[in-house]
Amino acid sequence: MEEGRKYRAIVTGGSRGIGKAILMELAKRNCESVMFSDIMVPDDDFEKHAAEIQKEIGIEGVKVYGFKADASKFDEAEATVQAANEKMGGVDILVNNAGITRDNLLLRMSEAEFDSVININLKSVFNYTKAAMKPMIKQRFGRIVNIASVVGLIGNPGQTNYAASKAGVIGFTKSVARELASRNVNVNAIAPGFIETNMTAKLNDQQREALLTNVPLKRMGQPEDIAKVVAFLCSPDADYMTGQVLAVDGGMVM
Ligand SMILES: NC(=O)c1ccc[n+]([C@@H]2O[C@H](COP(=O)([O-])OP(=O)(O)OC[C@H]3O[C@@H](n4cnc5c(N)ncnc54)[C@H](O)[C@@H]3O)[C@@H](O)[C@H]2O)c1
Repeated sequence: MEEGRKYRAIVTGGSRGIGKAILMELAKRNCESVMFSDIMVPDDDFEKHAAEIQKEIGIEGVKVYGFKADASKFDEAEATVQAANEKMGGVDILVNNAGITRDNLLLRMSEAEFDSVININLKSVFNYTKAAMKPMIKQRFGRIVNIASVVGLIGNPGQTNYAASKAGVIGFTKSVARELASRNVNVNAIAPGFIETNMTAKLNDQQREALLTNVPLKRMGQPEDIAKVVAFLCSPDADYMTGQVLAVDGGMVM
């Protein structure tokens, strides 16, 4: 990545949580314009939500766009990249962040619970990478970061669907990294541990305490802990990295 050049990024599921923190960090460090795609925002008002985030970033000249899209739908991913071309003039960085959990022990897990997690967490990565790789190959530059999970590395009872989707994201990352390396498109993944967002808000105190016994740094992560590593992977400092999975997890997996 050239020093001083400003980039254009798409972050899926970027209206809140880890995705929003990534969007904001990229805007502060590497980008002149950023676009979040999401299935929903408050009041379904994407323009207002984008304007609020832009105000929160507070840097003159940085533009924030919102685009309504279901990441699990192939056509909607293509429409997002098209909108990015129209509004930002292209795309240099793609962060595949959209994700859900539908936890259940396998004995009780329904087919719908399995399918929805695979479609939203894994198929979405295929959809958006396919759509964004074409302009990246053409311009001989791109940075793709996929948000996996430590659960994709070590498994977790009650999350067979989620673990399978995130392990799939890791395999996908390594394969695309090999396919696109010669075109200067670097593809890496981050495996977050337990991060404080809506996704983990359902945990009660007892569950939190139990989880923290496995975290050497003895605290849950913040969305910004992940965002900073994404910005690093999209910076010139990481130009010689591709196909890697970085665990950002307070030391859970080592
Ligand atoms: N929070 C954690 O502890 C943790 C740990 C490891 C990995 N992750 C991963 O980080 C990513 C972000 O999670 P988060 O914790 O910020 O959760 P979150 O629920 O706060 O945010 C997820 C975002 O994805 C969006 N989304 C859901 N379905 C979508 C779809 N079909 N199309 C487009 N957008 C969709 C949601 O609207 C939301 O904005 C996910 O991929 C998650 O699996 C989170």
